[in-house]
Amino acid sequence: MKVDVLLGLQWGDEGKGKIVDVLTPEYDIIARFQGGPNAGHTLEFEGIKHVLHTIPSGIFREGVMNLVGNGVVIDPVIFQAELEKLKPFNFDYKARLVISKKAHLILPTHRLLDAASEAAKGKDKIGSTLKGIGPTYMDKTGRNGLRVGDLFSPKFMEKYNALVEKHKTILDHYPDFDYDISEYETPWMKAIEVLKELKAVDSEQFINDAIKAGKKILAEGAQGTMLDIDFGTYPFVTSSNTVTAGTCTGLGVAPTKIGNVIGIFKAYCTRVGSGPFPTELDDEVGERIRKEGFEFGATTGRPRRCGWVDLPQLKYAIMINGVSELSMMKADVLDKFDTIRVCTHYMIDGERYDYFPYDVNDVEVTPIYEDFKGWNCDTTKLSSFDDAPKELKDYVLYLERNLEVPITVVSVGPDRKQTLNNKVLA
Ligand code: GDP
Ligand code: IMO
Ligand code: MG
Repeated sequence: MKVDVLLGLQWGDEGKGKIVDVLTPEYDIIARFQGGPNAGHTLEFEGIKHVLHTIPSGIFREGVMNLVGNGVVIDPVIFQAELEKLKPFNFDYKARLVISKKAHLILPTHRLLDAASEAAKGKDKIGSTLKGIGPTYMDKTGRNGLRVGDLFSPKFMEKYNALVEKHKTILDHYPDFDYDISEYETPWMKAIEVLKELKAVDSEQFINDAIKAGKKILAEGAQGTMLDIDFGTYPFVTSSNTVTAGTCTGLGVAPTKIGNVIGIFKAYCTRVGSGPFPTELDDEVGERIRKEGFEFGATTGRPRRCGWVDLPQLKYAIMINGVSELSMMKADVLDKFDTIRVCTHYMIDGERYDYFPYDVNDVEVTPIYEDFKGWNCDTTKLSSFDDAPKELKDYVLYLERNLEVPITVVSVGPDRKQTLNNKVLA
């Protein structure tokens, strides 16, 4: 069996958690391959909303294993809090979870370094979630990091203290930054004991054995393509490879073992944090999208920046990821809009761009739009895409033709049930 991949095509928060949860019954294993507690994946069913940060979104389904891969970075305190939130639902979550011994640990001092670095950047800050993601991946590539497997070593405290000392010397370079390590270190030390109770595995072996045994596996991405460290809007990105290639390095799956790649995008577009966003709407229309879509971060609560769907950006993301099918999310958010716009290309310095260019940070990018008539009706109660209003079908068809990939799912609400299959058009 090949490993299917589900990932975001925009700047994150596309609705990955919801669709992973919807698709989980078709799979035996759900595997997170990168990112960490900067992610906030929302699932909604039976009137309850769940937000997951590090735990894969298959956790609520019986009989499914959830793997936290080697490419993920783990904050034990946040992980413990996530586990606590699962307790009231009375299922054996420990039996459904395995963690890679090679996943890196976010130390209390990584969070401090993140905060110090962002504060020092002032107005140029990235708008990080301040979860310590950047410094942890820096220590990984700098070959200083601590991994889950180290927790079981008798030398763990020695390694921990050595790294903390190194971090303190870096923190000394930020004289205006005050900190108190013990505030976060005490709960951290308690939380690693909880982490140690979970099953730590050689995850690359685990997943390749599962592939051989014919198990169905879905790799769950975090963030989105435009936040990828290599292909995103650098430097306003996260510190991992959020794209399909990240599945290979973040799980130990060979490229020849990748199957379907499901790309998720919103029927419009959002971004949280700093950085370029060509179709951003800094007006009352953007404000309306934010209100209708309840566009506030699942991890930080920050208002998300809103704008129209962007074809050059989506085409770029589809190319990088080798997307084989698309899910269009939050169509219902546009239910009350008379006009819906799609950016078809950009004008930069009088030149037309049909693709996402290198420099969108320091130049003026003018998005050129094509307008569509809104459907102006409630789509949240639809049970079949066949019954969707003509204007929504036209919108989907237009996007499919231009993106040259079938839109197999149209989502019309946060609940599991508000998910329409559109395999007919595929
Ligand atoms: P993720 O990070 O990609 O998993 O996405 P988030 O959970 O951060 O953000 C998506 C938000 O949209 C969550 O609040 C979801 O409950 C919600 N959502 C997902 N799909 C839909 C949809 O089709 N319609 C509406 N109205 N909300 C949705
Ligand atoms: P999910 O998985 C949206 C953004 C931050 C910031 C930049 C770097 O829920 O889609 P970091 O904390 O990684 O140093 O932040 O990336 N960011 C996200 N935006 N969704 C996410 O995850 C994000 N994770 C990070 O806002 O701009
Ligand atoms: Mg999110």
